[in-house]
Amino acid sequence: MKKYKGILLAGGSGSRLYPLTQAVSKQLLPVYDKPMIYYPLATLMLFGINEILIISTPEDTICIKKLLGDGAQIGLELSYKVQNHPNGIAEAFILGADFIGDSSVCLILGDNVFYMGDQLNEFLSVTHENEGAVICGYHVPDPSRYAVLEFDKDDNALSIEEKPRKPKSNFAVVGLYFYTPDVVKKAKALKPSDRGELEITDLNKEYLNEGRIKILRMCRGTAWLDAGTPDSLMDAAQFVQLLEKRQGLKISCIEEIALNHGFIDHAQFLRLIRKYRDGSDYKKYLMKISEK
Ligand code: TTP
Repeated sequence: MKKYKGILLAGGSGSRLYPLTQAVSKQLLPVYDKPMIYYPLATLMLFGINEILIISTPEDTICIKKLLGDGAQIGLELSYKVQNHPNGIAEAFILGADFIGDSSVCLILGDNVFYMGDQLNEFLSVTHENEGAVICGYHVPDPSRYAVLEFDKDDNALSIEEKPRKPKSNFAVVGLYFYTPDVVKKAKALKPSDRGELEITDLNKEYLNEGRIKILRMCRGTAWLDAGTPDSLMDAAQFVQLLEKRQGLKISCIEEIALNHGFIDHAQFLRLIRKYRDGSDYKKYLMKISEK
């Protein structure tokens, strides 16, 4: 399998969630039973990515470090980089240039919650074949709020339009992107948009113009939620709550994924959960996993 490094972009201003985000990073707000950042982190782990750069604001980086540390406890190599101003999503590749080096890289947004179900294997094979960019489309009822994909019957990308008034499809581009190492050079060449940001859509259009972009359509039955507004934050929490209660299995439990995907062994899993405070359902769940 092609080896990817991961970038988790967890800064931003969180204006739409004010005053929730006045004193707390959006990515540390709860999505039901865990901090939001667990969800994108778990997604990267499910792709087998263990070297991850977390980018956040000067204040929030301190709190995220307090939560996740260097990641060694769950078999990860986490490093951190500060983004001083929210200059746009594509700035991640400039800030992460040294980290990326000559590796392929997967970028995930810190407020995006994914539930891939069985489609994970398709993700693994499509991203393995990647020779440019892989971006993912999700069917939504209100595409005008997003970057929208147009594609032919073989899923070849024809256009990407940012918040179009007349969307060419119902497929929105989600906050999960896979690139070859040349993404750094392309990001450095970008010009800020009218709103003063380095736009990920402009970056994707570069790959589109070169015919080096592949679209992965997320299937029915998968979920993509961005938890950036009070309503979508609540939707994400309710989605997680419903599935977890019904199945008795957790979504995006990073310790469980670390164990099941071989990031850590059983002994380390036990050492880890022994350190957790008693009393939470989260710890009880982990204890149950350890007995299986
Ligand atoms: P957005 O939701 O587009 O922006 P935001 O988080 O600043 O929120 P709001 O629009 O309500 O002000 O960002 C999507 C994700 O990307 C989110 O997890 C924050 C992150 N992000 C950065 O870390 N740096 C940036 O410069 C931008 C634009 C976003």
